[in-house]
Amino acid sequence: MSEPFKNFERAGWESVVAEYASGFGDLTMQSIEALLDIVGAAPGVRLLDVASGPGYVAAAAAARGALAVGVDFSAAMVAAAAKKYPDVEFRLGDAENLPFDEASFDAVTMNFGLLHLAHPDRALAEACRVLRPGGRFAFTVWAKPEEAAGFGITLGAIQTHGNLSVPLPEGPPFFRFSDWAESARALKAAGFVAPEFKKIPQTWRLASVDALFDVMRTATVRTAGLIGHQTPEALRSIRVMMRNACGLYQKNGIIELPMPAILAAAIKPMN
Ligand SMILES: C[S@@+](CC[C@H](N)C(=O)[O-])C[C@H]1O[C@@H](n2cnc3c(N)ncnc32)[C@H](O)[C@@H]1O
Repeated sequence: MSEPFKNFERAGWESVVAEYASGFGDLTMQSIEALLDIVGAAPGVRLLDVASGPGYVAAAAAARGALAVGVDFSAAMVAAAAKKYPDVEFRLGDAENLPFDEASFDAVTMNFGLLHLAHPDRALAEACRVLRPGGRFAFTVWAKPEEAAGFGITLGAIQTHGNLSVPLPEGPPFFRFSDWAESARALKAAGFVAPEFKKIPQTWRLASVDALFDVMRTATVRTAGLIGHQTPEALRSIRVMMRNACGLYQKNGIIELPMPAILAAAIKPMN
């Protein structure tokens, strides 16, 4: 694990900026208000958004009057966020080794970032370090594939017609933090107290029955790597199975996939 996986992720996120924003932006934005509410984002609150990607969370926090900073290890993501939200500060940096002093923030958020990290436990400890005592941390991850239909359909089709064990750099389990008990354990190990969890209902609206395959193939990193390693014959069958499955979610010409998020929050103790 570790450096090969981190390098693979970084290279991927440098190259999918526009695709990620158009494929996932409307979806990952759906959890922002809950994330900001639970950390108390309000005027004057110093908030760090880790793995900030296109900048949605930091921009929404700034719109509430928070003193928001976004940090991401992809220079292309940081550049895109800074261009889209010129009044918000975005910095290049690693979630596992944050470029900020201890106790610099009142609130830290991470929207769908933790599941992409080589060493997520280090990132939790870093979030705790940069928070002031009493400060709040919250993250979101996808619910398990049985509930997050976009992943259930994709992984089910690959399992049926292809191969889930392809030679990609080994990373941590993608759905580790979808498990509330495991997240609570990890948050406490990182120094947090009072972990709490919520499920956020979200809907992924896709314009066609083939859009899920196309977005997974072009706008993700690990899942795109998995798809990229399938044989051409397997890919054809995977695509058909995903198309048919998406058709079951069609409403008035739009595909509406349930994609719930798990929201986890915790507090840095006063001493
Ligand atoms: C799925 S995107 C989430 C983007 C954004 N938070 C959102 O709400 O849509 C994951 C982001 O995590 C970033 N990332 C992955 N590993 C990272 C690390 N070790 N340090 C900082 N950013 C990281 C990627 O560059 C990418 O922008």
